[in-house]
Amino acid sequence: MAKQSKRDLFEDLELYNEKEDNPVIPLAMGAPGTDTISGCKEILLESTRITLTNEDEKYIFQYGPMKGDPDFLDELARFLSSEYGNDVDSDNLMATAGATQGLHLTASVMFDRSTPVFVEDPTYFIAIKILREDLGMNIIPVPTDGDGIIPEALETAIKEKVIAGSETKTPFKGMVYLMTTFSNPRGISTSPERCRRLVHLARKYDMLLFTEDVYNLLSYTGTCPPPRLMFYDDKNDDDFKGNVLSNGTFSKILAPGIRLGWIEAPERILELVAKCNTSWSGGCFNHYASRLMTTALKQGMLTKHLHKIRSIYARRMNLLYDLLCEDFPVPIVCEKPKGGFFLWAELPSSLDSKLLLQIGIEKHGVNFIIGSSTSPTESYKNCIRLSISFCDDEKLKRGVQKLKDAVREYQSIWGQDK
Ligand SMILES: Cc1ncc(COP(=O)(O)O)c(C=O)c1O
Repeated sequence: MAKQSKRDLFEDLELYNEKEDNPVIPLAMGAPGTDTISGCKEILLESTRITLTNEDEKYIFQYGPMKGDPDFLDELARFLSSEYGNDVDSDNLMATAGATQGLHLTASVMFDRSTPVFVEDPTYFIAIKILREDLGMNIIPVPTDGDGIIPEALETAIKEKVIAGSETKTPFKGMVYLMTTFSNPRGISTSPERCRRLVHLARKYDMLLFTEDVYNLLSYTGTCPPPRLMFYDDKNDDDFKGNVLSNGTFSKILAPGIRLGWIEAPERILELVAKCNTSWSGGCFNHYASRLMTTALKQGMLTKHLHKIRSIYARRMNLLYDLLCEDFPVPIVCEKPKGGFFLWAELPSSLDSKLLLQIGIEKHGVNFIIGSSTSPTESYKNCIRLSISFCDDEKLKRGVQKLKDAVREYQSIWGQDK
C-alpha cells in the first residue's frame, strides 16, 4: 500500500512499516484482521446483487431519509433484539456512518464548546482527541475502577463543573462519555447496580449518558452480552426522561470500510440528532450501505458472519491471556475479558510503557497502545492495551514473544529504576 503524506490511523499503528526483516506486529490495532474480514466480500457481493436487482434506482441512489431507511431500521432492530437478548424498538434507531460519526454528530449538535464532557479515565484514546482537539470541548476526567466509571466521583465532578442555571442548547447540562460493556481499553463491563446508579445520576443532573456500545455483540461466554446501559433507563420508571444514547457500529462485527453504524436513543434525543441541519443537508449518513446491509440482515448473512468471528475472537482472547500468563518477565496483572477486542495489562508501577513501546517498535517489531494515551490525565503509564482483533494466532504468538523480549531488554537497560 502506498504511504500517504499525511498522518493517518494506519501510519500511527505502524502498518506501513513493511521492513522485511523486522515487520512490526500491531498488537495496537483495534480493527478486524485478514481472517476476520474474510467473508465480507461474499456478503457484500451477494447483498449488492440481490439489492440492485430488486431495488428501484431512483430510491437507492437518492438522498436517504434523515433518520435512515425504515426497512433498514426494522431489520436492525430485529437483529439487535435477538443478539442483545432484549428488545430494541426501531423507532429509537437512526443510521450513522459509524460510531465515530455518531460521536461527532451528537457532541457537535447537542452541545457547545463550553459544555462539560465527563470522560472515563482511561477511555478510548481517539475519543479524547476528537472531543478535546477537534471539537474543543471541556473534558473532565473521572476516575474508574474495575467496575467502570465511579458514580461518587462522577457526582462530585458534576456538582463542581456544572454551573447551576447555565444555559445549554438542549435539555442536557453535560455529557458523560462512557463504555459499560467490554470497554475500550480495559475490556470490562459495568455491573447492573452501577448502571442503575449512573442512570439515576443522569436523571438527577440532566446529563446525557453517551455510551459506546461498539463491542457488545462480541461476547465470548456463549451467552448474550451484559445489557447495554440504555436497558436500565426504563420507560416505565416514574422519573424516566430518556438520558441514554447507545452508539453502535458495523465496523467491529463486519467491516470498518463500509462506514455504517447506528444511534439508539429515546425520542427526545433522536429529535435533536436526526433532525439537525447536517442530516437535513445530507440525508441519511450512509443510505446506500444501509440498503445493502438490510439485505445482508434479512438473509441472515450478518448473523452467520458474527457467529464465525465470535468464535475466532473467543479463541484468540484465551490464547492471548494464556501467553501472557506464561513466563512474563515481570509481574503482570490482567483479567481475561469476556468480550470485545482488548486486554488491559498492568505492569510494575515503576515501568514506563512509553519507553517500552519505543524498544518494542525499534528493536523487536511489536507495538501496543500505551496506558497514558488512553488517559485524559496521562495516568496509567505502566499499563498497556493489547488487541486480539488484527493478528491471527501465529502473529499473536510472535507478537507476545516480541513483547516479552522488549520487556527483558527494558529491564536490562532500566532495571528497577524506571
Ligand atoms: C470506542 C470506540 N468508538 C469508536 C470506534 C470507531 O468506530 P467506527 O469505525 O464505527 O467509527 C472505535 C474503534 O476502535 C472504538 O473502540
